[in-house]
Amino acid sequence: MTDSELTSHKAANNDALDNKGANYSSGLEKVTAAVVAAARARPGDRIVDLGCGAGRVSLRLAERGARVLAVDGNQAAVRRLETTARERSLTGLEVLARPIDCLSLPAKSADLIVTSYALHRLRDADKQRLVAAAYHWLRPGGTFIVADMMFGRGTSSQDRAIIRSKVRSLAHKGVGGWWRIAKNSCRYLVRVKDHPVSISAWTAMFARAGFTGITAYSIVNEAGLVSGRRPSVPAQAAPGE
Ligand SMILES: C[S@@+](CC[C@H](N)C(=O)[O-])C[C@H]1O[C@@H](n2cnc3c(N)ncnc32)[C@H](O)[C@@H]1O
Repeated sequence: MTDSELTSHKAANNDALDNKGANYSSGLEKVTAAVVAAARARPGDRIVDLGCGAGRVSLRLAERGARVLAVDGNQAAVRRLETTARERSLTGLEVLARPIDCLSLPAKSADLIVTSYALHRLRDADKQRLVAAAYHWLRPGGTFIVADMMFGRGTSSQDRAIIRSKVRSLAHKGVGGWWRIAKNSCRYLVRVKDHPVSISAWTAMFARAGFTGITAYSIVNEAGLVSGRRPSVPAQAAPGE
């Protein structure tokens, strides 16, 4: 990974460090809490946090005694997280500045892989590739948890309910809100930058990769969580194994 790759990645992902307001923070806090609860981390667990940002999730898991590898393409964010971990004497937290799509880990090396609000920038084929890679990196019986904005292009009633509620809440914010409605409509319809997919699309990707015990639910607004387990005894070998 070169510095210029990291820099361009940083420019594309400055949202990690942006302050998007109180609603955004409280929504993200609910997502973080849902991920941490689903993780059920125990001391010594080997956990990978993909797109860790400044470490909302990683820090909480490391505080429970887990050994966390926190990965993000934003070098400033991981350096800041490294400093925070040092200040809190969290020796089990290690950081890695790397785009998720360039990540390679040893097979069966993780007990748990988590990711919170970091995958919606990946194109669909890259999401599926990552789900398959996560399966490969997890030990049999290990768990993969994805929390992210999860909605499609308005073809399902759930999508339409999410879009209606977003439009309603922005419309209450006056001219600025209407401007954001216009901006977001373009962004989500054209999908140049963000590529969210629905909860059912995530569930299907997990199933295709071989995960079992898949659970999926909506956390708040458009945020959803999908988790699945790599079977302890594989029904058949995973692709590439
Ligand atoms: C909205 S922040 C969320 C950060 C953290 N997971 C949290 O819950 O606070 C999204 C993070 O994902 C990172 N990210 C997004 N796409 C990435 C990619 N392809 N590779 C590495 N990091 C990525 C961004 O740099 C950013 O730090």
